[in-house]
Amino acid sequence: MTDVDHSVDVFKNQCKFMVRGLRRCRNTATVNTEEQLCSYHDPATQLTHMKNTENPTRISSSHKRMTRPDSVIQPPEKILPFKQTSLPVILDIGCARGLWLEHLQQKFKNDFNYIGVELREELITVATTRNHSKENIQFRCMNCQKPSHWCSLLNLKFGQLDQHVQKLENRTKKSNVRIIEGKKVAIMDRPVYNAEFFMKSLQSTGITVICIQFPDPWAKSRHRKRRLVDDGFVTMLHNVVRLWNHQSEESFIYLSSDREDLHDEMVQVFSKNEKYKCIGYRISGHPFQIGTERDLVCEHLHREVYRSIFKML
Ligand SMILES: C[S@@+](CC[C@H](N)C(=O)[O-])C[C@H]1O[C@@H](n2cnc3c(N)ncnc32)[C@H](O)[C@@H]1O
Repeated sequence: MTDVDHSVDVFKNQCKFMVRGLRRCRNTATVNTEEQLCSYHDPATQLTHMKNTENPTRISSSHKRMTRPDSVIQPPEKILPFKQTSLPVILDIGCARGLWLEHLQQKFKNDFNYIGVELREELITVATTRNHSKENIQFRCMNCQKPSHWCSLLNLKFGQLDQHVQKLENRTKKSNVRIIEGKKVAIMDRPVYNAEFFMKSLQSTGITVICIQFPDPWAKSRHRKRRLVDDGFVTMLHNVVRLWNHQSEESFIYLSSDREDLHDEMVQVFSKNEKYKCIGYRISGHPFQIGTERDLVCEHLHREVYRSIFKML
């Protein structure tokens, strides 16, 4: 038998929260280093939809479950014009509680405007509450697979096309995605008529970086259609960014995943589309040198993270 070294703290870096008073939480990614608590159990970052209000550190387990993309029905409120409209935008798709954007804002301050979009409303509530005093961060709850949600976010009105849009969306017909040059821009096969109005209200130089970090994998093949990145999504993203980038700023897409197969699947989908060019495949390290919550978990578990960068042409 080998001797056990009792001087070694086996709980080093592990969250100190006692689950049901019986065992320590197994999460090793602590966000509150002073009290050594992970993001789920740190009161400062905890979620708002707790089942047990008497015990504020007890969080409903429902938030840990993945939300079906089609479960979000309400389109988001439009993005309000930023105070410094000339700044480029960092858009975080699937931003969860927005902690990464928050850290980015602390590092880069007013170099960018920051937008976080996320499927789960309770996470957006936390993100918005934590950042309500900052002028250059906005969060919205939306399903990024839905063109109508992007239009709502960008304040594009479908007008009489509404019913038509709904029918098309129900059919989720992705083959007819196309771009119409000039003022009319089509997302799926719906022309959007008041792009100019949108430009005036937003007046931004354009999105510069779009981050898709650790999108839910939906591993089972029968759930494949729930995966965020597919042919329809990347074409739609190009259309959305074209609307935003009215001054022809360059845009980059940063992808990451700890699942090699999922990362390569995303890379394949973007590579297949002639509107994107891969400029970095399996790059080492986060380009902003600030990891997301999931990055931190992977770091502590010594899990490899696969990262790639695309340029939008
Ligand atoms: C695994 S988490 C990663 C969170 C964060 N990006 C990180 O790296 O820590 C994936 C997030 O993407 C969100 N998401 C998945 N599909 C989405 C969709 N269609 N629209 C918006 N958000 C989505 C999920 O709700 C979830 O919060």
